[in-house]
Formats: sequence, C-alpha cells, structure tokens
Amino acid sequence: MRRLLVPAGFALFAAVVAPSAFAQFTPVVPESKNADGIRTSYLFITIFTVAIFLLVEGLLIAFIWKYRRRKRPRFEDGAPIHGATKLELAWTGGPVIVLFIIAVFVFAELPGIKNIPTATAGEEQLEIKVTGRQFYWQFEYPNGVIAVDTMVAPSGVPVKLVVTSPDSDVIHSWWIPALGGKIDAIPGRVNQTWFQADKPGSYTGQCAELCGLEHARMLATVNVVPRSEFDAWLANRRTQQSQGSLDLGKETWEGACAKCHGLAGEGGIGPRIAGSPTLADPKALATLVRNGRTGPQGVMPAVGAGWNDQQITALVNYLKENPPSGNAG
Ligand code: CUA
Repeated sequence: MRRLLVPAGFALFAAVVAPSAFAQFTPVVPESKNADGIRTSYLFITIFTVAIFLLVEGLLIAFIWKYRRRKRPRFEDGAPIHGATKLELAWTGGPVIVLFIIAVFVFAELPGIKNIPTATAGEEQLEIKVTGRQFYWQFEYPNGVIAVDTMVAPSGVPVKLVVTSPDSDVIHSWWIPALGGKIDAIPGRVNQTWFQADKPGSYTGQCAELCGLEHARMLATVNVVPRSEFDAWLANRRTQQSQGSLDLGKETWEGACAKCHGLAGEGGIGPRIAGSPTLADPKALATLVRNGRTGPQGVMPAVGAGWNDQQITALVNYLKENPPSGNAG
C-alpha cells in the first residue's frame, strides 16, 4: 500500500501544485516588442538546452543500466579502447554547430531588442527620464511633469527611457519584465532603453540591482493608458504640479520618505518622524531633503537632492493636509 501511496502523492502534488508554482519561473507574457524578442531568444535557447539535457541524462541512465556490474568480479577491467575518431569529431563539431546556431539567432534578434523603433509619420516618440535613487524611481516627462514610482505611458507609442542615477547615489537597475530587459541606472552614466506597449494595462517590476537596505521595496509600476487619456493626464498633471499638486506630494512621501520612516511616519530603518516640526517647515524640510544630514541625530541621506521647488512644495502641501499620524496600520 505504502509503495503505491508515495508515487500517487507525488503525482497529485505535480498535478495540483506544480503548474502554478512552475508558472512563476517562466518569463512573463511580453507586452512590448523588445520583451518579445527576449522571450523568443529564451525559448529558442531552451529548446537546445532541454534537448541536450535529455540526451546527456538519457545516455547516462542507459549506460548505468547497460554496463552495471551484475555478477562480474568487482575489480575486473573493461576492454581497453584507443580513440574513436568519429565520436570525437561528433562531440566537438556538434556543440560548435549548436553554439553557432544560437549565436546567429540571438544576433538576429538583438536589433529588435536594443534599437528604439523609429517613430512613424506624425507620431512622435515619447522620452521619459528615469532616475534610480535610494529607494525610489523618479520620472521626468518632457514638459517637466514629475512622477515617483508609478509611470504613466501612452499605448502604441514608442517610449524611450533615458536611465541614470545621481552621482551621490548607487547603481540601480530598471526592470519591468513585460516591457523589456533590465537596464542599469548608474551614477554618472546615461543608459537608454525603450518599450512600446500596445495594450493598456498595469505592468509591474522592481529594482534589479541590490542597492541597499530598502532595495526590495524599490518597486515600479508602468500604467499604460490610451493615447488621449495619457495626453489629458500629462496636461492635467502639469497644471496641478504648478499649483502645488498633492498627487506628486503623496507619491514623493510614499516613494522617497515612507520607505524608511514608515507610511505614518512611525519609524522603520529611519527614525520616527511623525510630529517632527521639520515636516511643517518648508524651508527646513527643503534643506534637509536636498542636503541630507550627518550628526548626533543620525545620518539622513540627501533623498531629495535635485528636487525642484514644485516637488518640495507638493510634499509640504501633502504633509500639511495629511500629517503623518505615527500609528502604523
Ligand atoms: Cu535600487 Cu535595488
């Protein structure tokens, strides 16, 4: 009975648990042409690796079975073999051919992955500056609109991403799997990547380079919306921003401040800041976030170095309306 139960248990486990568990190890469904190219290359290489794995492991098992000792004496030697030219040529030539095929395929796919598609007539491509910071993503649109951690982008339009990190920061890596491969955000260097999502939707990803204590919380979302909706969002956001937008303030608080100090300012890896007079003092707050602080109260990094006045104002206005309560959850 027990002999039957164990394999039955495994079969049940494989049937019920495994598909959903394994689904997490497969690449996400690509929603942009460059992500599609990456997936195609991945699948193409997988065909060879799986075939080679089956061949090698199959032969291994077959040989173990065929040449098992049986009743032969333990120290009896097998027949001596001197060279096998055909076999040696095959196991040298075979891998060379496989590697050549893979290389040709990947190099053929590469331009579609790397090169930003040229904009079609009358349709401009959008350029967004992406800055990786400890521990948030800051996005800047051509009209000066700023967003934190959540990017809004139009569908059907090539979006060029100019990715960097401030000199005072560390290396991060931009990665939204459904929208293409990773690209590093390196201090003092500007990298470029792109995506073109034809289907509106919300695509998530996260920083893919260990960048410090809160690396795991450095998530990013790209909300792809229809073109007209995007245009309206961008124009509206610009107006709001010039009026001290609470939206930008909320994003900035949640993205740049709360990851260390807690959503309610209750403290985390950074100290409790709920009730701190600095939060209600625009000048003091601006000086602190732009320059950071080292001293007996502890080290505060310059999380807001380079923030313009609109972003500071937005943060101050948001904190004025929504003072952190200090009570988590
Ligand atoms: Cu930024 Cu990890």
